[in-house]
Amino acid sequence: MSSKVERKKRVFSGVQPTGQIHIGNYVGAISLWVENQDLYDNIFCIVDLHSLTIPENVSPEYLRKKVREVAALYLACGIDPEKSTIFVQSHVPEHAELTWLLNCVTPMGWLERMTQYKTKAADMETVGTGLFDYPVLMAADILLYDTDLVPVGDDQKQHIEITRDIAQRFNHLYGEVFKIPDGLFRESGARIMGLDNPEMKMSKSLGEVKKRHSIGILDSADDIRDTIMRATTDSNMETRFEYASPGVKNLLVLYQVMTNSSKEEVEDHFRGKNYGALKKELVEVVIERLRPIQEKYKEIVEEEGYLDNILNRGKERAKEIAAVTLQRAKEHMGLI
Ligand code: TYM
Repeated sequence: MSSKVERKKRVFSGVQPTGQIHIGNYVGAISLWVENQDLYDNIFCIVDLHSLTIPENVSPEYLRKKVREVAALYLACGIDPEKSTIFVQSHVPEHAELTWLLNCVTPMGWLERMTQYKTKAADMETVGTGLFDYPVLMAADILLYDTDLVPVGDDQKQHIEITRDIAQRFNHLYGEVFKIPDGLFRESGARIMGLDNPEMKMSKSLGEVKKRHSIGILDSADDIRDTIMRATTDSNMETRFEYASPGVKNLLVLYQVMTNSSKEEVEDHFRGKNYGALKKELVEVVIERLRPIQEKYKEIVEEEGYLDNILNRGKERAKEIAAVTLQRAKEHMGLI
C-alpha cells in the first residue's frame, strides 16, 4: 500500500464579466465545474482584466456591477465557497505580472493565428494591444496555479493549446517552471448554438442586444418560454441527435444536459414525438432548472457583505499560490 497521499488535481477556470451570462456559459462551463466540484481542488476566477480588452464595451459602472453579478452567479449556480476558491482576477496582481514575463517568450505569430482575436478584431476600427495579448493573460491565469485541468466550452480550445505552447517554450528556455494543463470539455454541450441562429455559437455580447438569441441565467419564465418556442428549427421533424436539423439538435443537447440524461435516454423519451413536444418540455425543464438558481442569486445579492467576504477570502488563497509560482518563474529567468 502506498503511504503517499495523492493531492487532488487542480482545476482553474473563469468567466469574463461582460455581456449576458447565458445557458451556454452554464452548460459549457459553470455546471461542469459544479458537477466536478468534489473531485478537484477548484479555483474559479472572475476575469475582469480580460473584460478591459474591448474598452468600448465596458464603462467603469458596468464593470463594477458585472463583476459582482458573475461572482453571485457562480455561488447561485452551486459553487460552494467551502470547496472552491472564488476570486477576482485584478485582485491578484501576479496575473498581470506573469503576463509580462510570458509576453517575452511568446512569438507574435502565435497570437496572430488566434481565431477569436481575428473575429473580434475584424469589426474594430482600432484594435488595442490588450486584445492581441488576451491569450497570454489567459495563459498566466492558468499557469500561476499549477493547474491540471481547465473546464471550458470548446470555443476556448485554441486558447488552451497556446497556453500549453507558451508553458512548454518557457520551460524549454528556463527550466521546469510550469505544469502543462489540459482542457476539460463536455462531450455533449461544449458548444451551445444561438437559438435564433443555430449556425452561430450562443454569445454573451449578442445576448445583450438581440432578443431571442440566448437565454440568460436570470431571464424570466416568460422570456424563456418565448425564446425556446420561437427557436429556429426547420421542417425536419427528426428528434434523433444524428438526423436532427442543427436547430433541433441544439435543443436536444440542452434538454440532455439540463436533465442530466444520456443521448439514448433523450431519444427514447422523444421517440415518435416531433420537435414541438421537445420545445414544450424544454421550456419547463429550463424554467425549473433556473428557478432555484435565480432565487439563490437574489438572496446572495441582498445579503450585505456576504459576497465581499467570499471574494476577500478567495483573493488571499489565490495570492498565496500565485506568488509562489511567480517567484519561481522570476528566479528561473534571472530576475534578482
Ligand atoms: P467567456 O467569458 O467567453 O465564457 C465563459 C465560459 O463559457 C463557455 N462558453 C460556452 N460554452 C458552451 N456554449 C457556448 N455557446 C458558450 N459560450 C461560452 C466558454 O468556453 C467559457 O468556458 N477566455 C475565457 C475566460 C478566461 C478563462 C481563463 C477561462 C480567461 N482566463 C482561464 C479558463 C481559464 C472567456 O472569454 O470565456
